[in-house]
Amino acid sequence: MPTIDEIIEYLTRRKEKILVEDFENAEKKELLEISVEEKYKQELSSKKIKTGTLLDDLIGGGLEPKSRLLLYGEYGSGKTQTCFTIAVLCPDHVIYIDTEGSFKATRIKQICDARGIDYKAVFKKIHLFQPKSWIEQMLILDKLPSPADIEDGKIGLIILDSLSKHFRGIEFAGRQSLSIKQPLIRECIGRLERIADAYNCALILTTQIYESPTANPFLPDWTGQKAVGGASLEHQPDYVVFLRKAQGNVRIARLMDASWQPQRERPFMITEKGIEDLPETKKAEKIIKKTEKFERQFYEMKKEKEN
Ligand code: GTP
Ligand code: MG
Repeated sequence: MPTIDEIIEYLTRRKEKILVEDFENAEKKELLEISVEEKYKQELSSKKIKTGTLLDDLIGGGLEPKSRLLLYGEYGSGKTQTCFTIAVLCPDHVIYIDTEGSFKATRIKQICDARGIDYKAVFKKIHLFQPKSWIEQMLILDKLPSPADIEDGKIGLIILDSLSKHFRGIEFAGRQSLSIKQPLIRECIGRLERIADAYNCALILTTQIYESPTANPFLPDWTGQKAVGGASLEHQPDYVVFLRKAQGNVRIARLMDASWQPQRERPFMITEKGIEDLPETKKAEKIIKKTEKFERQFYEMKKEKEN
């Protein structure tokens, strides 16, 4: 295991290398004005990657190229099942980095079979990496396939499930390690964002939760669940979606942060198809109404507290 000094040295070398590369690339680039009209057209015509569920409502109708989604929630809340479903439904190649060892090809086949999709084609388009430590996780970022390595040259999505698993080991225990852990996590996210930008593809990150010690005891337990990776993580992605368990196989997805969308919730189910909508629209509507009512009460309470 490397010592803290070795890690700092590694980070410093890496930082210098990236700074030089960035500078050289920026110098070569023509830094032209971007036409808003052109950008608007691009946004309207871009192909979106969907889950085919109400969850799409939360992520602008589906993930656009270069958009970044962070999924967080407790164990069993549906992060991995959501990643599986999106990976199966993505029309292009998918880079799947599984740090938890939770990727199951049999489950991917089951999802394909239930949806009438050719699983062999899906197996071929998923490029799986399973780093066994945080060091492997960082090094793998230099070894990911690029569109040039792929037959039709199209990578639509990169998934990292999860970002945080390898940063919860004994070597990162205690507050004193935060100054090492946070830059490493940010470096990992930053590198993936650069790759996704270069490939013109979407990025999904998942992370686990921790229970905030300052949780309000008068609110449901889940309001105290925070994303592992810190506040800096929550501000980076375009969409931050919190998943929580409801009854049985029903899960609630809550949009926590998106620069241009209000906070809201949508229910979905985990089934043999991966994730899908609740069969009874009435039940879904009931859940949405209930959560909207909670939302109003929550904000009224917050306002009262502030006054
Ligand atoms: P962690 O990785 O442990 O933090 O959890 P997660 O949020 O990734 O949970 P995951 O997406 O793995 O969801 C687990 C839930 O999906 C469990 O409640 C399982 O019962 C359910 N699940 C997993 N596989 C299947 C399946 O083949 N069929 C059905 N119907 N449900 C499944
Ligand atoms: Mg998982």
